Amino acid sequence: MGTTNISTGLQASRIGFLGAGSVVEAILGGILKNSLVPAGQICITNRRNEERLYALCDKYGTQSSTSREELVRQSDLLILAIKPADAEEACLHLRGLVRPDQLIISVVAGVSTDVIQGWLGVECPIIRTMPNTSSAVGLSVTGVAKGRFATEQHLQQALSLFESIGTVYVVLESDLDIITGLSGSGPAYVYYLVEAMEKAGAQAGLSPDIARQLTIETILGAAQMLLHTREEPAILRKKVTSPGGTTQAGIEVLESYHFQEAVVSAVLRAAERAREMGAQYQ
Ligand SMILES: NC(=O)c1ccc[n+]([C@@H]2O[C@H](COP(=O)([O-])OP(=O)(O)OC[C@H]3O[C@@H](n4cnc5c(N)ncnc54)[C@H](OP(=O)(O)O)[C@@H]3O)[C@@H](O)[C@H]2O)c1
Repeated sequence: MGTTNISTGLQASRIGFLGAGSVVEAILGGILKNSLVPAGQICITNRRNEERLYALCDKYGTQSSTSREELVRQSDLLILAIKPADAEEACLHLRGLVRPDQLIISVVAGVSTDVIQGWLGVECPIIRTMPNTSSAVGLSVTGVAKGRFATEQHLQQALSLFESIGTVYVVLESDLDIITGLSGSGPAYVYYLVEAMEKAGAQAGLSPDIARQLTIETILGAAQMLLHTREEPAILRKKVTSPGGTTQAGIEVLESYHFQEAVVSAVLRAAERAREMGAQYQ
C-alpha cells in the first residue's frame, strides 16, 4: 500500500493497547519512530505481568494503566493484542465500556470482527489485522480488513499504524486466515529452512558462524532478486540450474522429498488452524 491523501487524524488520538507483548512492542516502536502519535497519548495495560508493563512503558515513555476500564475510557482507538485464547474473557470484561465511536483494531489471530463485536456488545468500528514478527525490524507485511461498522477513515487510521512497521495490504476479512498461514506464520518456515541449511553447512565442516552468515545472506539476496528483477521465481530458479550441474542435483533431492507439496501443505494447514481457532467462537 502506498501512503494516502485522506487525513487519518491519528496525531490527536489517544491510543490504548490491551496487551503488552511482542506485537505491542513492535507496533509501539513503529508509531514512535514515525512520530504518528506522541508517547504521552499512548496507554498500555496487560493482565498481570506488572514488571513487563512498567518496563515497556519506561522504555517507550508511554502511560501504563493497571485498570482496563480506565484504559478504555480514555482511548479513542483501542488495539487488542492478546492471544486468541484470552480474547473472549478480555472482550467480555470490556462489555458496556466500549463506545460506538471508538475504533477497535485487533491483531488477534483467527477471531472475526463479528465475534469481537458480539463479545463487546456494541456496534463499534473494528479493523482486523494480521502482521508478522518481522514488525520488530520494521519489515512486517500486514493484511488489514474492515469489519461491518468500519469506514474508509477507520481503515486509513489502521493503515497509518501498520505502515509504520512495514508494508500493508487491504484484503477481505475472509482472506485473513490464509494470510495467517502464509505471511503470519511465514517467518517460521524461513527460519526452519535456515536451520536446515546451517546444519548442512556445519555437517560438511563449515564453522557455524560462517554457515549462518552464508545462509542468511543467500536468503536476503534471493528475496532482493525477486523484488528487484520482478522475474518469476521459477524462472530465477531455472537460471541457476544448469542441466547436470550442482543446483540440479540439489533440487532433485528436494523434489524426491516432495518439498513443494510439503510447503503448500504447511501453509494450508496453518490457515486451517487459524479457521479452527476462530470457529471455537462462532
Ligand atoms: N507475534 C506475532 O508476530 C504475531 C503476528 C500476528 C498476530 N499476532 C497475534 O497478536 C496477539 C498478541 O501476540 P503477542 O505475541 O504479542 O502475545 P504475547 O507476547 O503473549 O502478549 C499477550 C499479552 O496479552 C496480555 N493479556 C492477556 N489477557 C489479557 C486480558 N484479559 N486483558 C489485558 N491483557 C491481557 C498479556 O498480559 P500478561 O502477560 O500480564 O498475561 C500479554 O501482555 C495474538 O493474538 C497473536 O495471535 C502475533
